[in-house]
Amino acid sequence: MRVAGLARCKNLPSHLLRMHLPSACRQMSIAAGLKNSSIFRSQGLIGGKWIGAHDGKTIQVNNPATGEIIADVPFMGRRETNDAISSAYNAFNSWSKQTAAERSKCLRKWYDLIMSHKEELGQLITLEQGKPLKEALGEVSYGASFIEFFAEEAKRVYGDIIPATLADRRLFVLKQPVGVVGAITPWNFPLAMITRKVGPALACGCTVVVKPSELTPLTALAAAELALQAGIPPGVLNVVMGNAPDIGDALLASPQVRKITFTGSTAVGKKLMAGAAGTVKRISLELGGNAPCIVFDDADLDVAVKGALAAKFRNSGQTCVCANRIIVQEGIYEKFAEAFSKAVQNLLVGDGFSEGVVQGPLINEAAVQKVESFIQDAISKGAKVLLGGKRHSLGMTFYEPTVVADVKSEMLLAREEVFGPVAPLLRFKTEEEAICIANDTNAGLAAYIFTNNVQRTWRVLEALEYGLVGVNEGIISTEVAPFGGVKHSGLGREGSKYGMDEYLELKYVCLGDMNRK
Ligand code: SIN
Repeated sequence: MRVAGLARCKNLPSHLLRMHLPSACRQMSIAAGLKNSSIFRSQGLIGGKWIGAHDGKTIQVNNPATGEIIADVPFMGRRETNDAISSAYNAFNSWSKQTAAERSKCLRKWYDLIMSHKEELGQLITLEQGKPLKEALGEVSYGASFIEFFAEEAKRVYGDIIPATLADRRLFVLKQPVGVVGAITPWNFPLAMITRKVGPALACGCTVVVKPSELTPLTALAAAELALQAGIPPGVLNVVMGNAPDIGDALLASPQVRKITFTGSTAVGKKLMAGAAGTVKRISLELGGNAPCIVFDDADLDVAVKGALAAKFRNSGQTCVCANRIIVQEGIYEKFAEAFSKAVQNLLVGDGFSEGVVQGPLINEAAVQKVESFIQDAISKGAKVLLGGKRHSLGMTFYEPTVVADVKSEMLLAREEVFGPVAPLLRFKTEEEAICIANDTNAGLAAYIFTNNVQRTWRVLEALEYGLVGVNEGIISTEVAPFGGVKHSGLGREGSKYGMDEYLELKYVCLGDMNRK
């Protein structure tokens, strides 16, 4: 077996030699297989055509687990973005005039195609983003669920009749698509953060220019290819990638773009918000979090450990809703720290294609350096590393799943989003103190509480300044519920029936002179 594997892999690049050979070999053949697949695209999509950068510049897409170059994609900028905006603007007229049922059918077909290509899309996500294949396949289902949900919602964009104040008038409210949407999406969910925006936008009759992360554009391009195959007309969905500031500036400057939707860092979100002022665009922002996960003395220990583990280590800690501070009441602190550390120790780290792996690499070297600097800061201020706390022996950007005890509010680990596999434990005495620690941040996306006391549950969830609250549950995202934050975590909601409102304008109409003969 081993000999056969080696023979097939004789062209293995030197950087893969560090890895377990059969696994490195498998990755290479998966990459080669994907490149021959009907959904593999490595150019931008403008007006239904696959296009390179006007000056021919490209940028590499790497596998974070191996450093291997998967593909070169165009390094686009203002010019290509303006072309994409024009094509979306031209397509708006006809797409917005299609019936809701016609748009719904296209979206449903897109959903079916995504699901029938689940395996390839999952592999693409693992290849360019690094998350374990099982989790990547979960993202494909999660991502597709937004298309299915909004295919259905397309048919439910109702207006209102308002009882008139004068007998000869009739008043009503129409809901109409906002127009061309610029959607800027992150690398941590290469599919789901696109479908969560594009699904409702298209359902409402908007057309879209998507800018995926330069780190993970291949999944976006594959999804766009499937959109074309589903019969979504050319120009309705466009994809450009490359020079992020230039693409962002072009989207902001264009009076034809009527809305910006963004998932990513709070710093970039603030810039986009300021930039959108120039043309007074609608904007929705899903920004960083600093999620508290409060474990009360009366919690069920097993439920709390399982929930905190899921909330912290999903995608190796690289989600905006990951538990960033695990705040544990003093009566259960020692028991929780021990059981939690044991569970964390069992998390298998490795390349996402290997059997049993649940923690992949971090996205890049900068992400690892950020984690290292946070750990350094915590140790220098008196925190204690219970587990991990260093780079993984696999090298590359693998980091050991880490538990840090005695974390205090002033440490970086408690103040900012670590976006990595590090679980900081903070101790508290009273319910009031827990709420105070939890709300002591500018962020307000997700929060988690673990308790068996019903009255406490209500008191605490009402007091938490967050957009999402999980009670005795660590994974709470779903297409049917509104996702979004308060404070510096953003504006607007995605998913659910509320997600449609972000792409609709209200038009009030007053019909006068109704009694004229
Ligand atoms: C995110 O990290 O931005 C999204 C996470 C989710 O949808 O659960």
